[in-house]
Amino acid sequence: MTTVLLDVDTGIDDALAIFTAALSNSIDLVGCTVTWGNVDVEQGARNTSEVLQLAGHGDVPIAVGAAGPRNGAPAIFSPQVHGDDGLGGCADTAHVPTLASESAVELMLRLSHEHAGSLEIVAVGPLTNLAAALDADPTLPERIRQVTIMGGAALAPGNVSETAEANIWHDPEAAQMVFDAPWETTMVGLDVTMTSLITDEHRARLAAGGAIGRFSAAILDYYLRFYEGYTGERASGNHDALALAVATGLVRTTLSPLVDVTVDCSEGDSRGRTVTTLEGQWGMWPERDGDRHRVVMEVEPGFEERMVDLLARA
Ligand code: BDR
Ligand code: CA
Repeated sequence: MTTVLLDVDTGIDDALAIFTAALSNSIDLVGCTVTWGNVDVEQGARNTSEVLQLAGHGDVPIAVGAAGPRNGAPAIFSPQVHGDDGLGGCADTAHVPTLASESAVELMLRLSHEHAGSLEIVAVGPLTNLAAALDADPTLPERIRQVTIMGGAALAPGNVSETAEANIWHDPEAAQMVFDAPWETTMVGLDVTMTSLITDEHRARLAAGGAIGRFSAAILDYYLRFYEGYTGERASGNHDALALAVATGLVRTTLSPLVDVTVDCSEGDSRGRTVTTLEGQWGMWPERDGDRHRVVMEVEPGFEERMVDLLARA
């Protein structure tokens, strides 16, 4: 059983990750902290609450976090990818969210004490909340088993610019701080999430399933439409759920070298790019003294099938 805190900016693929965490019997989901990103943080919190209640896990505490990036610049959201409401137009406008009275930082710190040594943080949005928690308590990493980040692109192209992935691009300064902190860090970036695809065939299987399956199929319709315009195929990266799966052993990694990751925090075209020591080499990636960021480059196939089965059944 893995004890998980999910840090989310609940859009469509975040919702699939939350369903997977809530429904997997090998995961103990002890909290969700919400950050800005795909949508504003209030909408992200509403969506998180709606999704958890649908999954029958309305008791999981949800805490509201950062409303914009660390440097105070205006927040930029992604309605073109996730819809204005973050759930492809399917969010229930009548939903009354159940939210914790503590902030995201407070919840993260409290859970880190309650589950000291065993808490796995899976961060699938901009890293603003994690950076704020490090500000509030620099000893946090001592109590965390591992931080798994959906974000970055080591050798793959970016998805918001030629080189940058959305979660890192949204808040590069926060990401740099998280990579610098002395905790075990695993990066699950576009190199691998764009090989773990959810297709129209998966969506059809979900649509023929139970309430969660049907909801997942409905929100995926919007996501697949976006991807079709973007890559030419009705197939989307299974970004956030794959990071959760790597963190919790729902999928085995087959290539995940230990390297060094830094984040481009310049104001130029490459802002938000993750720069790794994998670049410029043909796959022979010897571990070097001091390198301590695991970057997942390949996973065993089949996780999407298992995830779709799990969600369709529910
Ligand atoms: C990441 O960006 C967001 O749009 C998704 O939810 C995912 O976390 C993919 O780049
Ligand atoms: Ca996300």
